Amino acid sequence: MKRLQLCFAGLGLVVAPILSLAQINYDMGKSVYQDSCASCHGATGKGDGPMKVYLVKAPSDLTTITQRNHGTFPHQRVWEVIDGRSSAEPGPHGSREMPIWGNEFKAQQERAPWWGMPYGGMPYGGMHRGGPEWHVSQKISALVDYLVRIQAR
Ligand code: HEC
Repeated sequence: MKRLQLCFAGLGLVVAPILSLAQINYDMGKSVYQDSCASCHGATGKGDGPMKVYLVKAPSDLTTITQRNHGTFPHQRVWEVIDGRSSAEPGPHGSREMPIWGNEFKAQQERAPWWGMPYGGMPYGGMHRGGPEWHVSQKISALVDYLVRIQAR
């Protein structure tokens, strides 16, 4: 019995630091960027992703947003461009080429296998902590934060 307890204690000593390291090193903005944005905007944000050749409009260089905006990063506009659901701007050919990430992130969360429950009919439209809208804003704010960090100086 004593040995078993020691064994568990030892396991805890090994596992706990690994778990906390994984937490510290997780960069949500960077990870969502690599999954959802790099195919068009490129691994480093320069607008040179492999999907570029299939698009009518070149994906923007995301490292020069601040430069092109006279030295200030336009948080609100960037948030709205990424979310896309409130965008009135139709794009050059009647529909923009940039995906509507607000819808996509919401759908990803709703079809997540561990979700189990449809959130569409829940109060506040899933805006509460843990709901799909909450995940949408977590992801977009992490992305905006990541984009701020990759601005050219
Ligand atoms: C299918 C290709 C594609 C993907 C994937 C994509 N984008 Fe875009 N993005 C574009 C294109 C093309 C533009 C240029 C504007 C337009 O659509 O007319 C753009 C424009 C932007 C802009 C505006 C930049 C500026 O200078 O005003 C931001 C910000 C942006 N994208 C962020 C993202 C983020 C963050 C992701 C990932 C969540 C992403 N994009 C994924 C194609 C893409």
